[in-house]
Amino acid sequence: MAKYTIPEDIKNPELLRWVTDMAELCEPDAIYLCDGSQEEYDRLCEEMVAAGTFIRLNQEKRPNSFLARSHPSDVARVEDRTYICSLSKGDAGPTNNWMAPKEMKAILTPKFRGSMRGRTMYVIPFCMGPIGSPISQFGVQLSDSPYVAVNMKIMTRMGTKALEAMGDGEFVHCLHSVGMPLAEGQQDVPWPCSPDPKDKYIVHFPEERSIISYGSGYGGNALLGKKCLALRIASTLGREQGWLAEHMLIVGVKSPNGRKDYVCAAFPSACGKTNFAMLIPPKEFREEGWEVTTVGDDIAWIKPDETGKLRAINPEYGFFGVAPGTNYSSNPNAMDSIRENTIFTNVALTDDGDVWWEGMDGEPPAHAIDWQGNDWTPASEKPAAHPNARFTAPITQCPVVDEHFDSPTGVPVSAFIFGGRRNTVVPLIQQSFNWAFGVYMAATMGSEMTAAAFGNIGEVRRDPFAMLPFAGYHMGDYFSHWLDLGRNIPEPPRIFSVNWFRKDENGKFLWPGFGENFRVLKWIVERTNGGGGAETTVLGWKPRHEDLDWTGLDFSPAAYAAASKIDPAEWAAEIALQKELFAKVGGRLPGSLNALIGGIETEFKKL
Ligand code: GTP
Ligand code: SPV
Ligand code: MN
Repeated sequence: MAKYTIPEDIKNPELLRWVTDMAELCEPDAIYLCDGSQEEYDRLCEEMVAAGTFIRLNQEKRPNSFLARSHPSDVARVEDRTYICSLSKGDAGPTNNWMAPKEMKAILTPKFRGSMRGRTMYVIPFCMGPIGSPISQFGVQLSDSPYVAVNMKIMTRMGTKALEAMGDGEFVHCLHSVGMPLAEGQQDVPWPCSPDPKDKYIVHFPEERSIISYGSGYGGNALLGKKCLALRIASTLGREQGWLAEHMLIVGVKSPNGRKDYVCAAFPSACGKTNFAMLIPPKEFREEGWEVTTVGDDIAWIKPDETGKLRAINPEYGFFGVAPGTNYSSNPNAMDSIRENTIFTNVALTDDGDVWWEGMDGEPPAHAIDWQGNDWTPASEKPAAHPNARFTAPITQCPVVDEHFDSPTGVPVSAFIFGGRRNTVVPLIQQSFNWAFGVYMAATMGSEMTAAAFGNIGEVRRDPFAMLPFAGYHMGDYFSHWLDLGRNIPEPPRIFSVNWFRKDENGKFLWPGFGENFRVLKWIVERTNGGGGAETTVLGWKPRHEDLDWTGLDFSPAAYAAASKIDPAEWAAEIALQKELFAKVGGRLPGSLNALIGGIETEFKKL
């Protein structure tokens, strides 16, 4: 006899059918339909405190906030366990893992059989994007993780309001289990998951618009509205329907004369989107009346309106940001956003019940409990916080949240920025000559491996459009979709490439970055409005030293020359590497990109 009953507020016929079937498969002890209320959130958090999943932080220092420590095997997205199960292998393309949907389901169905025994199945209705926006999409996640349920409340518009707006309409089916059923009387652990790294599956069925995730409770593996729905599934929807789902932040820039521009910027994971999204202009510019506001820090959905103007929404409702390195000088707005009502995962716990991580302001604590629950002192060899430790905080707590962040019509896009993490070769700032040239620059962007990432340190990993792990279909088709979209709108936004990460021979950053990035942003906004001086280079237009506003900063022409240098010899080698990516993309690479790279190569040879 089933222990559970189906919640009677589930009226959508397809939802009712699916919940009934999945409950039969997963055999949870109970089914709970999330309403998204504060009362519910508080109750689930309290239950997790009792279960040992959450530690309540000091109520004075960090009101209504909690710390979770994951299992050491479950600390980040697992790209090698992430699959695009399109019907045809070719549609997933050479940069995605693929398996035939039937074959994958034959693996997954037995895994889910009884996978929720001893647990509650949470039915989590959510809306990605403002409720009522024509760009938004509904999803329902079934999960046996209360941690997921409370994170989804922060990260999405979750609960009754989403369920009611969805009505009898369509939704993306998101099935999730941590993969650790409990036998009768078995004691639970604080962070249940499947500890075997090979026994995790993050699987997308683009034709069915469904997602199945097994074995992980962490971040993008488990909060299925984020990377799985809002990027992998949404990118395939966008391709069919003529819009874009991108790994981009959205910022507003208000000039002293009152003009407001919105800019979307793509940077790979852990390369500074949250910083740039909340950037504070240097004092002199603030005094002059410049303002920067945040619409989103990770994902943008971008759609042409009836006039062909691109408009963007942030499909999310919260920040799931990297904690280490966040402090009052690198990102004061993030620090203020996480002062209360925040879930911290894998940071350190101080003796006074607050959180700490590497790179926080002030002196390290003399003693703390590290992310694995062990004693830690500054003499310890291991970091106190995991390098991918994160905070989950409501976007409404951001001091500079944009007035239109929740607007159903989104914000108009003036410019796109693409930025990799390159120690060498790539100049501080370039404007591409045209849309297709911008697509070439975005397609070839890359990141040097850091200690926290996978692969060999120093090696360049190509990360086209910062979407390598997130495109739900063939990368060559993705490039074509971008090219087509630009051709089909009357005045496409201008495209820029930036690199904050260039270093000198001693490994020191050549560009101060952070708030100083405003100088580059200001030039970008000027260029999109017909102003801003520049010189022409092989790679596009580049500001000369005198074209950037240096008010309040001593940055010599020589220093600027180093940060913005374009070296023909370095570029010859760079182009050879870019061609490796193009070869990998193969037959579906748009011919125009091959023509462009050939042209650039020829131009460099002439120098
Ligand atoms: P995901 O949430 O993983 O998608 O990443 P994100 O792009 O939001 O990453 P995040 O903002 O957490 O990236 C933080 C990293 O970027 C840290 O290592 C920062 O030090 C670095 N960073 C951000 N802005 C700058 C900058 O202007 N200059 C330099 N040198 N580093 C920067
Ligand atoms: C990223 O890796 O780009 C993230 C974090 O934004 S996660 O949501 O875990 O994917
Ligand atoms: Mn991201």
